[in-house]
Amino acid sequence: MDLAKMIQFYHVSKIYSNNIHALNDITLRVNKGEFVFLTGSSGAGKTTLLKLIYCEERPTRGEILVNGINISRIKPSRIPYLRRNIGIVFQDFKLLKDLTVFQNVAFALEVTGMRGRELKRRTWKTLRMVGLLDKMDEMPLKLSGGEQQRVTIARALVNNPSILLADEPTGNLDPDVTLDIINLMNNFNAWGMTIVIATHNTDLVRKYSKRVIKLDKGRTIDQMHPERATLIPESKASFL
Ligand SMILES: Nc1ncnc2c1ncn2[C@@H]1O[C@H](COP(=O)(O)OP(=O)(O)OP(=O)(O)O)[C@@H](O)[C@H]1O
Ligand SMILES: [Mg+2]
Repeated sequence: MDLAKMIQFYHVSKIYSNNIHALNDITLRVNKGEFVFLTGSSGAGKTTLLKLIYCEERPTRGEILVNGINISRIKPSRIPYLRRNIGIVFQDFKLLKDLTVFQNVAFALEVTGMRGRELKRRTWKTLRMVGLLDKMDEMPLKLSGGEQQRVTIARALVNNPSILLADEPTGNLDPDVTLDIINLMNNFNAWGMTIVIATHNTDLVRKYSKRVIKLDKGRTIDQMHPERATLIPESKASFL
C-alpha cells in the first residue's frame, strides 16, 4: 500500500546556540492518518522535534518535509501558511484569559482574515465537537483544567488542519480527564487527521496501542513501524 507521507525527517540534527545537541541524525516518517506517541525522558528532544515541524525552530542539518513541502529553509513569510495546516496544543493551555471561550477559538480564524457567519459557524461547530458549546460565553479561568484543555484543542482544530501536534497535552490533568482528551483526539484521528502527541506518560502510551517513536538523548531508539496506518479517503479528511 502506498501511504501518503505527512511528515518526513531526513538526517535531521538540531544544535542549539549553547552547543546543546538536542536532536542527532533523526530520520523518520509519519504517514497521513497516523496517530503517533513521541516518548522519551525529559530532555530527550520531544519538544524540539515538534518545534521543527511547525517551524518554531530550524534544523541545523538535514531536511524536513511537511505534506510534501520542504520546510528546512522555508522563508519566514511562508510560515503562517504552513501553520494553518497544523494545529498545536500545549500542556500549559495558553488561553487568552480576558476573552471568552468562543472568542479564544474564533481568534484563530480571525487571524486568517475570516469574519462574520462563517467564523461563527465554524467556531460553534468546533466547540460542539469538543463538548463545550454550553460554556462558550464563559471566561477560561472559570473552567476546569480538562475543559480549558478542550478549548485549546478546539482552537487548534478550528482551522481544520491536517496535522495535530500536542506537547504533553495531559501533563496537568488527572487520569480520567486525560483519557477524555486522548479519546477526543482519537475521534479526530478517525476523521483522517494525523496526530503526534509528545508525552513521557508511559501509562498512557501503554493503554493505547498506537505507534510509538521513542527518543533518547536526541536519537530515535525505537520507531515501531506503521503497520496500523490506514489510508483515509480525501472526502473523510475534513470535519468542518
Ligand atoms: N531554546 C533552547 N535553547 C537551548 N537549549 C535548549 C532549548 N530548548 C531545549 N534545549 C535543550 O535541548 C534538549 C532537548 O530539549 P527538549 O525540550 O526538546 O526535551 P523534551 O524531550 O521536550 O523534555 P521534557 O520532557 O522535559 O519536556 C535539552 O537538553 C534542553 O535543555
Ligand atoms: Mg518537552
